[in-house]
Amino acid sequence: MAARYQVTGATAVEISASIESGIRRADLAPGDPLPPVRALATALAVSPATVSRAYAELRQRGLVVTAGRHGTRVRPRPPVAARRAALRPPPAPGLRDLSRGEPDPRLLPPLRPHLATLADSAGEPVGYPDVGVLPEMAAAARARLAADGVPAAEVTLTGGALDGIERLLGAHLRPGDPVAVEDPGWASLLDLLAALGLRPIGVPVDDDGPIVTGVAAALAAGARALIVTSRAQNPTGAALSADRAGALRALLAGHADVLLIEDDHAAELARVPLHPLAGATTNWAFLRSVSKPFGPDLRLAVLAGDETTVARVAGRARVGAGWVSTVLQRLVLSLWRDPAVAALVDRAAGSYERRRDGLMAALADRGLPAHGRSGINVWLPVTDETVASTVLRDAGWLAAPGALYRIAGPPALRITVSSLDEAELPALADVLARAARPAPPGGFTA
Ligand SMILES: Cc1ncc(COP(=O)(O)O)c(C=O)c1O
Repeated sequence: MAARYQVTGATAVEISASIESGIRRADLAPGDPLPPVRALATALAVSPATVSRAYAELRQRGLVVTAGRHGTRVRPRPPVAARRAALRPPPAPGLRDLSRGEPDPRLLPPLRPHLATLADSAGEPVGYPDVGVLPEMAAAARARLAADGVPAAEVTLTGGALDGIERLLGAHLRPGDPVAVEDPGWASLLDLLAALGLRPIGVPVDDDGPIVTGVAAALAAGARALIVTSRAQNPTGAALSADRAGALRALLAGHADVLLIEDDHAAELARVPLHPLAGATTNWAFLRSVSKPFGPDLRLAVLAGDETTVARVAGRARVGAGWVSTVLQRLVLSLWRDPAVAALVDRAAGSYERRRDGLMAALADRGLPAHGRSGINVWLPVTDETVASTVLRDAGWLAAPGALYRIAGPPALRITVSSLDEAELPALADVLARAARPAPPGGFTA
């Protein structure tokens, strides 16, 4: 822990508030160790049980992690920052930033014509009695999902995929429950589980999705929910193959009580067929976000699922945020209905695919096996993430360290291709080859 930060407090509530304030003000940085329970108890003249209670409360809210003999530390991305930018300091000037995991803003469909159409067609202001999922929106969402083989008799809307996942977990699970997630997996999902006090159980992933024996082990360990990314898995680009989906369905048939959540965040950008698991358990949900193809700021996802699950999510939303604005629903509907937008999304998907495949081929030429079957990221196993990130940075590039995405998996870097120029690929692959397998340091010899 930073020597300058003094934890204060005479009660568990005061001690946890003091640590939370240290984290919020960045006096306690991600990864900083907290003092051992007994040492802090002595320093504050309180009982060890009081400090333990304070640490347990911080752990349940995802601010700290306790890892056996490594003690208690501040989590890498504790949920006290209101803005995502606060989690990522801006890159040093001059660095090419391939760490962001975002679509290329230049490839998103322009909203202006659709906003103009909405403005022209706006009628009377919509009041409380008339809100909810618009019937035409529900019909369009059902048709789009049914075209991909997802049973969509019941649908509702959420403020994006992550909001949907949070609502689903809240509807079915309790703090402390174990949840099976992909390892490596989406960093924001790991943050969400920590903030909800849920316990992630990592399931290894290959290019075809979660490995069946890994899912079986997680279920045997008591996982109450399983979260699977259908395509463009973040960070590896994995996409559920037909065979893998069949094997997982067969496995899940014996675990009907597990909440199954599918995240199809790449949706129209994926360029690989969808093989849904929908319906493999009693309680299931399939989420399709509009963030990647149409823009993250739209904050809308379609949630299809079994009747109970959809009713729970929609019913709970009704007594809280209420509904997804019908203004936003009509904007998304307008984008969905425009063939020119569909063509732009398809062009973006092709552009990501070319650059992703180009980088993978350039890496393969240099003897480096990388992953990236679909989506906007390439996942490159490396010998050592710190060394690899340093070599890359010294050459003017920034990639995301794999540690953000891993639970127990081996080291790697995530490289987002969405801002890469095809002409840059050979030079980048040369640097990545040096970064992934650095020459052993010249040392002393006996
Ligand atoms: C796996 C995964 N799911 C979902 C999302 C997007 O979710 P949302 O709809 O909340 O923007 C992302 C964005 O990076 C993602 O990587």
